[in-house]
Amino acid sequence: MCVACNHTLSTSGALIRIMLLQLLFMMALPFSKACTTLICGSKATADGSVIASHSSDGGGTLDPRLVRVPARDYPGGAKRAVYPSPEVYPRYVGEERGVEEYFASNCMASEAQCRDTAAMGYIDQVPHTFSYFECTYGIMNEHQVGIAESTCSGVFVAKPIALGGKALFSVDTLSQIALERATNARDAVKIMGSLAEEYGFYGESDNFEGGAENLMVTDPTEGWVFHVLPDPTGTSAIWVAQRVPDDAVAVVANMFIIREVNLSDTANFLGSANMWDIALAEGLWKEGEVKDFTKTFSDGEYAHKYYSGRRVWGAYRLLSPQMNLSPEYGNLKDDAPYPFSAPPGRLLTPEDFMVVHRDWYNGTEYSLSADNVLAGGAFETPDRYSGGEGESQVSGNWERPIALFRTASSFIVQSKSYLPNELGGVIWWGSHAPHGTCYVPIMPGVMLISPACLSHVYQGIYDLTTSFWAHRSVLNFAQIKFSNIIQDISALQKSLEMASQQLVFDITSKYSQISPISDVIKDEITDLLTKNVLEVRDAFVSLFYELVYKYADGYINTVNEKGVFSSSSAGYPAWWLEAVGYSDGPPSVDDGKVPPVSVKKCVMGCMDRELSDAEYRVCTKSCVHAVTK
Ligand SMILES: *[C@@H]1O[C@H](CO)[C@@H](O)[C@H](O)[C@H]1NC(C)=O
Ligand SMILES: *[C@@H]1O[C@H](CO)[C@@H](O)[C@H](O)[C@H]1NC(C)=O
Repeated sequence: MCVACNHTLSTSGALIRIMLLQLLFMMALPFSKACTTLICGSKATADGSVIASHSSDGGGTLDPRLVRVPARDYPGGAKRAVYPSPEVYPRYVGEERGVEEYFASNCMASEAQCRDTAAMGYIDQVPHTFSYFECTYGIMNEHQVGIAESTCSGVFVAKPIALGGKALFSVDTLSQIALERATNARDAVKIMGSLAEEYGFYGESDNFEGGAENLMVTDPTEGWVFHVLPDPTGTSAIWVAQRVPDDAVAVVANMFIIREVNLSDTANFLGSANMWDIALAEGLWKEGEVKDFTKTFSDGEYAHKYYSGRRVWGAYRLLSPQMNLSPEYGNLKDDAPYPFSAPPGRLLTPEDFMVVHRDWYNGTEYSLSADNVLAGGAFETPDRYSGGEGESQVSGNWERPIALFRTASSFIVQSKSYLPNELGGVIWWGSHAPHGTCYVPIMPGVMLISPACLSHVYQGIYDLTTSFWAHRSVLNFAQIKFSNIIQDISALQKSLEMASQQLVFDITSKYSQISPISDVIKDEITDLLTKNVLEVRDAFVSLFYELVYKYADGYINTVNEKGVFSSSSAGYPAWWLEAVGYSDGPPSVDDGKVPPVSVKKCVMGCMDRELSDAEYRVCTKSCVHAVTK
């Protein structure tokens, strides 16, 4: 990445900063608005926890660092700085936020990119902020409040102050402040909604596609779906939040899902009072019509038809199969083919959410990885790259799977009411894409530092000591023989993720007997969980080397239990050979070799029949032809 090379020295510092910012925003655009989120309530899970998940499908420049933001106290009159949210690396540089990984001295990009980020504005600070873990968005705090994000389209767009607009808050900063201040999901929603209204909200892009946002917000007892978009003036916001029924699951994949809104039903809805007045004034809604939030304020699916809806269907297919939802529809926004939420087919666990994030509709007619899907190649990869020269010359779209090659990270947040806050909250963190990752537990209530192999990572520097590059190496190598290699990957994922579940169980069983949980104990647990993260990373680095060995040059190389090495030719599957015209290649020659058994059999068949000499010659010739063709 070479953002600042062209703009240096002669321009003033402030101008460089603004140009840099603009470039960063622009570079973030093409891919940064595509994430899948899930949520389910406490009566929908096997252990009574509330679960939500997020995939950060942001692409090759996204900042993948997982860091811990410490709790802090502030004197009266203190201000909280609000920074722009470029999302590409480095998303923030400076010491003000108290996160060492963000110090300029730890920044791994170019010198020009690693200058301290200038604040866009300030709001009043609170006397005490809670600790939490964050990526580009806040993830979970020490009170088990969790957040998962998916960018949406909206009918209004706004620009941030840094780009000449009037809005102060991105969803990135809103989610951080919510985790700094809230001890439950409902308060987190109210904090974000009221700040967005007061100071203005801007989306990831200032076009309609990425102009609005969705957050799943959880605590140990409740799960909320929160939608927010700018108001038409660009100085405020429109927002609504609906509680997910305790016994249900909901899916947001880059498009709003909240339908009929009833703000008098305060047990299940929160929202800005302005929304229906604005909708009326803008001609989006009429008195007497259903107050359908999505129909009124969404700009529909972006990228292509089924870009959002297929993933919603795909998630319900796995989580609520009894709903038997249709994969097809007329218009996702206007026809509302999918419900706001649905009961799951069985009680869910974080692993069920992992399975969804690793899905490409396998086994259905939409599968990106199957026999006869030529786009996936001979070894049936579900990954489809895009955005190059070729795509600009040929119009079309790929099916959008849930599992995506360009996912920088994904996670599942789990909050448990049956455990104290220190031990109840778990972030199941997956570096790089879900199908190549291995989810590791991070416990925000007790971990005092984020493991370095998760917090010191930059897509601009190849570094196999980071979990990101370990998983990225494995998934990229998997492309040479995906149908085989995904089995090696899955086997390792399963065994290590089971070991991680056991580790969380052991930690919570042991330490939930102890109160209070001292810093010494927190150190102990931090060590245990960090050791696990390192072991998983090492296992994937080893897997990477093993895969290079095992599948080198199209062979399958093995050493049996007696130490004997063998190398078998794997070749290509028959369906693919047929599809690419293998049969039409150069013809075989009659080299006088002993014909194969099937030819002999065929020739003997000719001999058994009563044929003239001429007929006999035709018959035997057809035998040879049938085999060599
Ligand atoms: C809205 O919610 C209130 C309070 O729960 C309820 O009394 C009212 O009937 C609801 N209105 C509609 C249209 O459902
Ligand atoms: C995909 O589904 C097929 C059956 O339809 C199954 O044999 C295969 O193992 C699945 N692949 C993966 C990677 O889950």
